[in-house]
Amino acid sequence: MRIVLLGAPGSGKGTQATLLKQKLGLAHISTGDLLRAQVAAGTELGLQAKAVMARGELVSDAIVLGMLEARMGEADVAQGFILDGYPRNLAQCQALDAMLTRMALPVQHAIQLDVDPTAIVERLAERARKEGRSDDNPDSVRYRMQVYQEQTAPVVEYYANAGKLQRVPGMGSVDEIHQRLLELLGQA
Ligand code: AP5
Ligand code: MG
Repeated sequence: MRIVLLGAPGSGKGTQATLLKQKLGLAHISTGDLLRAQVAAGTELGLQAKAVMARGELVSDAIVLGMLEARMGEADVAQGFILDGYPRNLAQCQALDAMLTRMALPVQHAIQLDVDPTAIVERLAERARKEGRSDDNPDSVRYRMQVYQEQTAPVVEYYANAGKLQRVPGMGSVDEIHQRLLELLGQA
């Protein structure tokens, strides 16, 4: 199964992808996690991305695509994958389609998690208190939501036009949302 998980910052993409990975044995590919690993390791790429991420801006398409191509070359991807946090703009949609066409592994499901903006602000404020992620401060959260509206909302439309979009309410408990996703995927 090849899934693109879409949704605003804090909508639960990472949480739900982790559960789907455990349940369905899919590779979970989060470009945010890959970038944070580069920042933590202090690589050249991480140094370039660090401040951009902390502000809540998008890292350049070329950097993210290079990193994604390397990850998609790993063996576990052939069993199926969940992409979390990619694509985030229309250029990334096109780059992804081209890559997956070359690999003969096209996206089958694009699933949008719908969450109220007030819940997003609460969830990310809670995580800021617990984990201190550099982009969970109020200014960066506001900016991430703006970037999402301006650049990532067209991605949802892109998959709708391709006939691949399904929407799932992302409010409720983590387990309720997980069950909704399994039902949608015919795996409940
Ligand atoms: P990324 O890491 O992708 O962050 P994001 O999209 O802003 O989303 P989050 O990871 O904050 O939220 P999520 O939807 O995964 O929700 P989660 O499960 O964590 O990107 C970070 C940055 O990296 C970007 O701003 C950009 O700079 C860069 N980047 C990444 N990809 C890029 C790309 N393709 N191109 C360019 N730049 C890129 O949940 C959030 C919180 O809520 C958690 O604390 C969780 O425990 C809690 N929670 C989850 N579900 C529930 C629930 N049902 N009820 C209550 N709490 C819940
Ligand atoms: Mg995430």
